[in-house]
Amino acid sequence: MARGNAELSRWVVQQAAARHGDDVRHVAELGPGPGVGLEALLAQFPDAHVWGADLSVVMLSQSRKRNQTAVTAGRLTLLEGGVAALSASEPADIVMANHVLYFWQDPAAEMAQVRSFLRPGGLLALGYQLEQHMPAMARRRFPRAGHQLYAADDEVTGLALAAGFGSVTQIVKGSAETPEGVVMLATA
Ligand SMILES: C[S@@+](CC[C@H](N)C(=O)[O-])C[C@H]1O[C@@H](n2cnc3c(N)ncnc32)[C@H](O)[C@@H]1O
Repeated sequence: MARGNAELSRWVVQQAAARHGDDVRHVAELGPGPGVGLEALLAQFPDAHVWGADLSVVMLSQSRKRNQTAVTAGRLTLLEGGVAALSASEPADIVMANHVLYFWQDPAAEMAQVRSFLRPGGLLALGYQLEQHMPAMARRRFPRAGHQLYAADDEVTGLALAAGFGSVTQIVKGSAETPEGVVMLATA
């Protein structure tokens, strides 16, 4: 699962770059966890400043450890907090959030807040997995912990449209029968 997450993070960065282009100055990741996605963003967008915001100080310390060189060089800023902390990256060109959707209690409101920090034409890149393709343990544990799982990509599209995003598309990683994940790309 951890390796799958890492591969999805790197792939989402590639999809975001393919859609937005490489002229990126401000980029942020919400919920970077161990920091693999931040590492990929720093490599993909060498002229950008990168922000990472996570509710967990333990996860932030892992992100810091993995990306210490960029922190020391002043290219990466790590912040404790949720979506509101991303105001520091305003006006952001790209905001990425992988496997964070399930934790949002009011996902359309969270996405609307992300949109408010993006520059016009900026991109939300949201990586996730549908419930039926998650490992059995995650399917059991997530709802018990009060987290929201999704059974159809249309449900996620609907949230982005409700949040005011346009040009919403989804790309599946891997085969349609056994996908490794999905990225939703949506323009502010
Ligand atoms: C399942 S992990 C995914 C980590 C990483 N993005 C990945 O794909 O490997 C979710 C991460 O999001 C963080 N998180 C959960 N809810 C959040 C929120 N509302 N705002 C910011 N971070 C959040 C957790 O602390 C955790 O680091």
